[in-house]
Amino acid sequence: MNSKQTRPFSAVEIIHVKRDGHRLTDEQIDWVIDAYTRGEVAEEQMAALVMAVLLRGMDAAETARWTSAMVSSGEQLRLAVDRPTVDKHSTGGVGDKITLPLAPLVATCGAAVPQLSGRGLGHTGGTLDKLESIPGWRANLSTDEINRQLNEVGAVVCAPTEGLAPADRKLYALRDVTGTVESIPLIASSIMSKKIAEGTNALVFDVKVGSGAFMKSHENARALATALVDIGSAHGMHTSALLTDMSVPLGRTIGNALEVAEAIEVLRGGGPRDVVELTVMLAREMLQLAGVSDVDPGEVLASGRAYETWCRMISAQGGNPNGGLPAARHMHVVDAKRDGVVARLDAYAVGLAAWRLGAGRARREDPVQHAAGVRCLAKPGERVAAGQPLLELHTESKDTIKPAMAALNGGLEIRDTGASHNLTVLDAVRGEVPAVL
Ligand code: URA
Repeated sequence: MNSKQTRPFSAVEIIHVKRDGHRLTDEQIDWVIDAYTRGEVAEEQMAALVMAVLLRGMDAAETARWTSAMVSSGEQLRLAVDRPTVDKHSTGGVGDKITLPLAPLVATCGAAVPQLSGRGLGHTGGTLDKLESIPGWRANLSTDEINRQLNEVGAVVCAPTEGLAPADRKLYALRDVTGTVESIPLIASSIMSKKIAEGTNALVFDVKVGSGAFMKSHENARALATALVDIGSAHGMHTSALLTDMSVPLGRTIGNALEVAEAIEVLRGGGPRDVVELTVMLAREMLQLAGVSDVDPGEVLASGRAYETWCRMISAQGGNPNGGLPAARHMHVVDAKRDGVVARLDAYAVGLAAWRLGAGRARREDPVQHAAGVRCLAKPGERVAAGQPLLELHTESKDTIKPAMAALNGGLEIRDTGASHNLTVLDAVRGEVPAVL
């Protein structure tokens, strides 16, 4: 889609165009992304441009072109797999460990899953941090290793290779410090540039909505889902998005090793109902996009066959699937103050508590504590008695317990009555299916 063009523009001229509310041309977009990646456009000029984009927006065609330009800034993974490839991307939530059972499940059902994942930042966790709690597991793979694992196991979850979408890496760091992260065209193009460079044939988004999500309102989440799917369609990728509720943590565990243990329960045919349901629902959506129609992912998950694929997937990356997971040095139990029903367990409050316990990071370069996190012993709709344990707080450092308790203040309520919280799919956005994969 993007042919590199050489006509030099002036960065100031391009800033003026967007500042004054006009469309950028394909040539202007190609030039500014390329020149920024090479260091010819200065950081302060790009900062002004992305602020203008945040305030003025970009239409679907501009956003698609911006994405292509970022893809062209680096290498594209050459996937050589003899089955259809399909990936899933979640916009991030609290207790969202779905990739862990989903990737081996979809591989067991017959598609190949190449998932280049990220690390967590703030109150939402990252898939690589979760997997790194498995002793020996390695996130960095070469393209040859990715292809070998895709062909032999069918699923690979790893860190993006170095040369993938360098323009996005630079731009994301700039947006982080210039108050320009929250622009839907910039978020969508950032996510999609990495997915297009990854080379998957099809892609399903789980766009989270609610207190524990990046997008707090349905309206913004739908706009992001539409922008993502439109970019996919413009690049010939089968793309769809489900909008799912993130006002309550997903499952009963939040924090890296705790979430891996819960994912293993799901892969063995057990685990919390919401995690099982979302895993199966996303697997169905992925298999449909990949053109695999003769398998029921619900049956495959319940059979435990996906667990065998998980073990092979972990071993292929140096991890020992039977080697045990780290346990935290300290545990603090939060008890129910009264008899009643759990009426509220706020995803953001629990995510923040887990972060303060050491499960998350505040800056990209910070380490995470693999054993830290929260276990929810009771969830909304469940009846509890005074003194009954509600939450377990796990940490390596006792002094994190007080700030974690402060984070939970107001996020947990027991009343006389309260509704149970079922997995809710709020909406779906499906792209036009391109003629050829
Ligand atoms: N994740 C990304 O990869 N990019 C964004 O801009 C936001 C979230």
